[in-house]
Amino acid sequence: MALVALLPGLSAAQHTLTGELPRPRGSGPAVVLVAGATGRTGRLVLDQLRRDPRFAIRPLARDVALARREVGADYAWVEGDVTKPQTLGRAMAGVSLVVIAIGATERSGPNSPEFVDFGGVRHLTDAARAAGVRQVVLESSMGVGSGGGLLGLLLNLISGDALEWKAKGEAHLRASGVPYTIVRPGGLTDGPGGQGGIALQQGDEGSGRISRADVAAVLVAVLDNPDALGKTFEVINDDAAKADAWRRGFSALRRDPPGSP
Ligand SMILES: NC(=O)c1ccc[n+]([C@@H]2O[C@H](COP(=O)([O-])OP(=O)(O)OC[C@H]3O[C@@H](n4cnc5c(N)ncnc54)[C@H](OP(=O)(O)O)[C@@H]3O)[C@@H](O)[C@H]2O)c1
Repeated sequence: MALVALLPGLSAAQHTLTGELPRPRGSGPAVVLVAGATGRTGRLVLDQLRRDPRFAIRPLARDVALARREVGADYAWVEGDVTKPQTLGRAMAGVSLVVIAIGATERSGPNSPEFVDFGGVRHLTDAARAAGVRQVVLESSMGVGSGGGLLGLLLNLISGDALEWKAKGEAHLRASGVPYTIVRPGGLTDGPGGQGGIALQQGDEGSGRISRADVAAVLVAVLDNPDALGKTFEVINDDAAKADAWRRGFSALRRDPPGSP
């Protein structure tokens, strides 16, 4: 089946069918693999990326035909299942940057947090390392660093220990040697982005909510951003903050100490 590439440097309206995958590293815009591209945050990451000529998009889907129908036929979809590492090598070829916005779809079973939020992150990280990817950006969750208190206990109970498995996924990425950024959103909402400010926090002691659109903006803003490398931080909407002030906030965040879990 012919694949469709988003041509670098063109606006969304100018994207053309080419029948090719995005260009490999070093010869144009950076190829960004988006895992979870059919998800609610992932789709918004695609929207953000296609506006930015620095990037060529390679979205990953378990069911490419469905993704083409439901998300967009003008993306260069690649098929892959993060629970099956043998499906990730081809998807990762020529990739420079990876955004992970996956989430388990069941409480127990083969697509539960153990196999997606931990196993999937592990497999993507290992495939990224093998491919020489220069940064992996992981959408994790507020509460992963602290257990999330009473709410976290409840969340773990109903989700199949999602926070605990996400913590193991984060730890694997941190220890992998692959340059990374870990973004932990508060409770996700589906409102429009850019309506207010975004607070960047560390220590995982806060609480709050944030729109998926704003999370997508953060995930894209940290790509190839040296100020965000080796850092883990929480993000929530903050009406008291100036709308775009967060974009200059990454340098003030502390790097994760070496060997931190
Ligand atoms: N809900 C909250 O309040 C909250 C708060 C903080 C963080 N989070 C976390 O933020 C992340 C994004 O959440 P969301 O609600 O935007 O996501 P979502 O809509 O649930 O999308 C999940 C994505 O993961 C993909 N996926 C699942 N299993 C996969 C597999 N085996 N192989 C490849 N892809 C797979 C899904 O693909 P398919 O289309 O194939 O299923 C989908 O694209 C999740 O990790 C979530 O736990 C959530």
